[in-house]
Amino acid sequence: MTLDRAAGAGKDGRGSGLDEQQLTGLNDMDPEAFRAAAHETVDIMADYLAGLRSRPVLPDVEPGSIRPLFAQSAPEKPEPIQAILADYQRLFEPNVTHWQHPRFLAYFGSSGSGPGIIGEMLTAALNSNVMLWRTSPAGTELEQVIVDWFRQAMGLPVGFDGLLTDTASTSSMLALAAARQAAGFDASRKGLSGRSDVPKLRVYASEESHSSIEKDCMALGLGADAIMKIPTNDRFELRIDALEEAIAADRAAGIKPIAMVATIGTTSSTSSDPVAEMARIAKREGIWLHVDAAYAGAVAIIPELRAPFAGWEEADSVLTNAHKFFFVPMDASLLLTRRMPVLRDTFSLVPEYLRTLDHDGPIRDYNEYTPTLGRRLRSLKLWIHLRYFGLEGLRRRIQHCIDMAGDLAGWIDADPDFQRMAPLTFSTVCFRYRPAEFAGREDEPEVAARLEKLNVELMARINRTGETFLSHTKLKGRFVIRVAISNIRVEDSDMAVVWQVVKTEAASLAEPAG
Ligand SMILES: Cc1ncc(COP(=O)(O)O)c(C=O)c1O
Repeated sequence: MTLDRAAGAGKDGRGSGLDEQQLTGLNDMDPEAFRAAAHETVDIMADYLAGLRSRPVLPDVEPGSIRPLFAQSAPEKPEPIQAILADYQRLFEPNVTHWQHPRFLAYFGSSGSGPGIIGEMLTAALNSNVMLWRTSPAGTELEQVIVDWFRQAMGLPVGFDGLLTDTASTSSMLALAAARQAAGFDASRKGLSGRSDVPKLRVYASEESHSSIEKDCMALGLGADAIMKIPTNDRFELRIDALEEAIAADRAAGIKPIAMVATIGTTSSTSSDPVAEMARIAKREGIWLHVDAAYAGAVAIIPELRAPFAGWEEADSVLTNAHKFFFVPMDASLLLTRRMPVLRDTFSLVPEYLRTLDHDGPIRDYNEYTPTLGRRLRSLKLWIHLRYFGLEGLRRRIQHCIDMAGDLAGWIDADPDFQRMAPLTFSTVCFRYRPAEFAGREDEPEVAARLEKLNVELMARINRTGETFLSHTKLKGRFVIRVAISNIRVEDSDMAVVWQVVKTEAASLAEPAG
């Protein structure tokens, strides 16, 4: 059925494009009108995905320029779905940053796969809330299945259980809350403030760890100051000697260490902390070890590339984001823990209206493991995505990204005007433009300032072309451009385009402006 027929155009003589429910109804869109509109929507989605390369990755818009394009208050009268979809295409699509674009290589990409999108569509139709087993029996039990699929695929031992959350920030917050609880002060019930029996609590993480760890401490009442940022070596990996010193100093000062965070695949350079040694120290000190592998965890499904993960099987908790290098659409983060009962003790609160009375025996009610009651059904899209590609297909795609990163690193290394700024650990390349004339003088203050200025301008020019989107960081104080190749649509030819754009824009820096 076409959208016009479903909408009853002509049937009521008005040809308004409105369906019966919109005109007089008391209920939802009619299923047949939904069918027609959804078919058209799928065409819009497929056209969007097919046409990504013809779009600039970053829209050419200024802050504040988009809001005036939309009606400034909600419509009083119903509007035809055709008009709404047309406005979506006209107003929205051109004004978003295209995360699905093959040359979106900024931050860590989150490029959602086709089967994952289909999973999102079905998820929306079911509208399941996986708060209790009884509110989503299949959602609850598929979540357990999917968690275990990932555990096996990433080579973690039996004993790790877990759950799906929205983001790595939340997964780490849950892990740190459990660490706080495991420290023995029952902060979940008694809080932390005003207690003479609670010393200052400490969390250790490297200076390269993600800001979410700090934010989580802010949210958990530990305070951002609870974090001791441990220095890194010249490969940006946490220094064990500095960690040992910090723990000893804290203990001497009466501060209680409760958790340490090891990052496998840090955000800036994708360096990996020495997890096995950290696990040894954590065990000795009785400290919770949390591993943040938000981006890099996916690489662990390739057994030959598991070296950086050695020791993570000893952790108390491990997170990885399915919506990063696993190519699942936002949002899906996986938190695995060997200490599910502690997580439950941290967040379980069961009022009468949430009790399940008609089943005996233990039931997995996932809300007992999280601060929220309502939870999205996330396992369905993961199930569809994993079955569609198979682990074999995901391995091939992840390896391809890693290979393309190797190619780019090779091109940079071979060019005297560019400099690589971090070892290549996974699929993210850190580099800067360093005209050959500055070679060997990089740390002279004037040269350092000039290089930073050149690279800030270079990145802006690259991104203005619309051909790609790259982001930056600072490593040991030096401005660095990052190319994060973890995109399910990127091809070798795209990387050739990116390198050409980088070289052309760098060359343009030498030309007089205008
Ligand atoms: C290592 C690491 N941890 C955590 C995060 C936070 O991820 P999310 O946006 O899912 O909270 C990121 C984001 O890139 C990250 O790189």
